Amino acid sequence: MTKSVKVSAPGKIILSGEHAVVYGYPAILAAVNRRLAVEVEESRSGLKIVSRESPNLARYALKKIEEVTRRKIGDEFRIKVVSQIPVGCGMGSSAALAVSFTGATFKFVNHPWSKKGINEIAYELEKKQHLTPSGCDNTISTYGGFLWFRKETEELKVFSHLPLKALPKIFLIDSGKPKETTGEMVAMVRQLYSTHPRKIERIFRKIEKTTKKMLGLLLLTKRHPKLDQLFKENEKLLEELKIVSPQTQALIRKIEKIGGGAKISGAGGIKEGSGIILAYHQNPEVLLNFAQKEKLPCFEIKLGEEGVRVEKETL
Ligand code: MEV
Repeated sequence: MTKSVKVSAPGKIILSGEHAVVYGYPAILAAVNRRLAVEVEESRSGLKIVSRESPNLARYALKKIEEVTRRKIGDEFRIKVVSQIPVGCGMGSSAALAVSFTGATFKFVNHPWSKKGINEIAYELEKKQHLTPSGCDNTISTYGGFLWFRKETEELKVFSHLPLKALPKIFLIDSGKPKETTGEMVAMVRQLYSTHPRKIERIFRKIEKTTKKMLGLLLLTKRHPKLDQLFKENEKLLEELKIVSPQTQALIRKIEKIGGGAKISGAGGIKEGSGIILAYHQNPEVLLNFAQKEKLPCFEIKLGEEGVRVEKETL
């Protein structure tokens, strides 16, 4: 029988704290029930990648995994990627690929399965793709559930699982695929930070306050504004970071006008779309009717999905 392993990992949304998280401020993330699976299979004809993703990344990943496992893995296998996560829309498809690929290769070469080990390599792969990521995307994809995440230094990232009590009905609305990559958006904020450090620090501190209010709301520990208000507050700050396109801003204003709140989730985008946005309305019907009228793709998503897992192995 041909030796093969299939490992999958979830996509994510960021409830609060994107971009600020790159600079050491906290973020709250949730894994979602859209997964990406990587299947690694023995092959005589060498490394074959059946995927939209770049073969160079897979080669780089193999090199990193060889360093960690101290084994020559070679390239005598095929890699197949199947994904339910839209690419480049802020839902963590590249992190899910990095996590699943690493997990599948660990299993394939019989390296001890450890989430910590998988997460560390996935972070290296994310850096190769996005240059200076915080590591929050690969961490939520590895561990799943809901996470409070903070990057203290390059070497120390702390995170804690959140036992959520309140799970509001959040809808995802597609504002259009960003023209920019995550790496480009992170670089734009870095540029803004270097020209106006005090102003941008002030925005990050306000984002941190919103993130803490969000935590209070989700854990039901304190009285805080409703989720629509928190999304509004957070979105306003993200717009001050100049990462939301005019067309997405216009769409979010319309959602506010019908009594809801919405924010981008992830890196954003400024030329055209800004990826998926999170939308909340105390009366979901109003939001659904609005999306239908505007002909916008809108779907409810299950939060708190399991992290990386083995789907199948024939060894
Ligand atoms: C991307 O999903 C989230 C950002 O904060 C970048 C990062 O944390 O690496 C924009």
